Amino acid sequence: MTQFTVHPAQITTPEMRASALTDPGFGATFSDHMALVDWTAELGWHGHRIVGYGPFELDPASAVLHYAQEAFEGLKAYAHSDGSIWRFRAEVNADRFQRSCRRLGLPELPVEDFLASIDQLVTLERDWVPTGQEQSLYLRPFMFARSPILAVKPSTQVTYAVIASPSGAYFGGTGVQPVDIWFTRDYTRAAPGGTGFAKCGGNYAASMVAQLEAEAAGCSQVGFLDAVEHRFVEELGGMNLFVVTADDRVITPALTDTILEGVTRSAILKLAAASGLTIEERRITLDELFDGIDTGRFTEVFACGTAAIITPVGMLKDADGGHVVGDGSPGGTTLRLRQQLTDIQYGRVEDVHGWTT
Ligand code: COI
Repeated sequence: MTQFTVHPAQITTPEMRASALTDPGFGATFSDHMALVDWTAELGWHGHRIVGYGPFELDPASAVLHYAQEAFEGLKAYAHSDGSIWRFRAEVNADRFQRSCRRLGLPELPVEDFLASIDQLVTLERDWVPTGQEQSLYLRPFMFARSPILAVKPSTQVTYAVIASPSGAYFGGTGVQPVDIWFTRDYTRAAPGGTGFAKCGGNYAASMVAQLEAEAAGCSQVGFLDAVEHRFVEELGGMNLFVVTADDRVITPALTDTILEGVTRSAILKLAAASGLTIEERRITLDELFDGIDTGRFTEVFACGTAAIITPVGMLKDADGGHVVGDGSPGGTTLRLRQQLTDIQYGRVEDVHGWTT
C-alpha cells in the first residue's frame, strides 16, 4: 500500500476539538491534518505526505483560480459502537474521481493512492470522528491545477489533497426534517457534452445563482431541469432526487452525461430493489412530477447524497406555486430506506453488500 509520510501537527486546542465534535454542523471545522500528493508532467505523482492543516501557498496565476480546473469527492468515516471506524464504498468514489479528473484534463490519481490517503488520514485523525447521532467525519478529497500560466491549456502541475471535517446534518437541526425544493426555469446546471457527470467545482459554481433564487423563494435547495428541452428533472444543486409512488415504485432520473452518478443514489437503488420496490430509472418531466404529487400517485420525494444522506422533501415549488408532497411530513418508504442505509453505515446491521471497510 502507498505510504504517506506523516508530519505531525497540533493546529487546534483540545477545547476547539471538543467543541467541534459536540455540535459540528456541516463542513465548517477541520481536523489537524491534511493529506497531500503532488503531480507534475515530468515526475508524475510524488511527495505523498500528511501535514498540518493550513493554507496553501498559491501563485496568483494558478490555473485553478482562472479556469476552474478542479475536481473533488465527498465521503464519510463512521464510528461504530465498538469504537472502530469505517468508510463506505470509497472505491466507488475513487473510480468516480478518476472519471471527473479525466473530463477536466487532470491526471488520474491511482485508486490505491486515493484509498491510502483516506485510510491513513482517518487513522491519524480517529479522535476527530464524532460519535453523536448520525454524525461522521466528512472527507473531502480534491485536486486542483496550479501551473502559473494564463494560457488556456491543461496544467502540468497539480495538487491532490484530502481534508477532514467533523459533521452533522447537512441541513442543520436534529432528527429527519423535510426540506423544500425550488425548481428554477431560468438557469440550467449542465448541458450534453459538458461536465454535469463530473464532480467539479464549476458545476457547483453554476448552481449558486439558482440557489440564491431558491433561498429567496424560501427553499433550501434548487432543482434543475435539462438544458435542451427544459422539461426533464435532472438533479438538485448538490444531490440526486427520488420519487416514491403509491404503488411501490421508486423513480429517479436515468443517468446521462448531465447527471452526477451518486454513490448514495446507487446504494439506494440496491436497497430499494432488495425491499421489493420496482425501480424506474427514466426521464421524468417536472409536469409529471407536479401532477403525480397533486393527484396522490407520487406519495414521497427525497433528496440523497453523501452529505444529505436521505432527506425527505416536503414541498416542490416553481414560479407558479407549491406542491406539497403527501402531508408534507417524511414518508414511510423514505424513512425505511434511510434507516437501512444508516444501519449499514453505522454498523447496526450486517453489511451483506460489502460496502463498508
Ligand atoms: C456530497 O454529498 O458529498 C457532496 O459533495 C454534496 C455537496 C456537499 C457538494
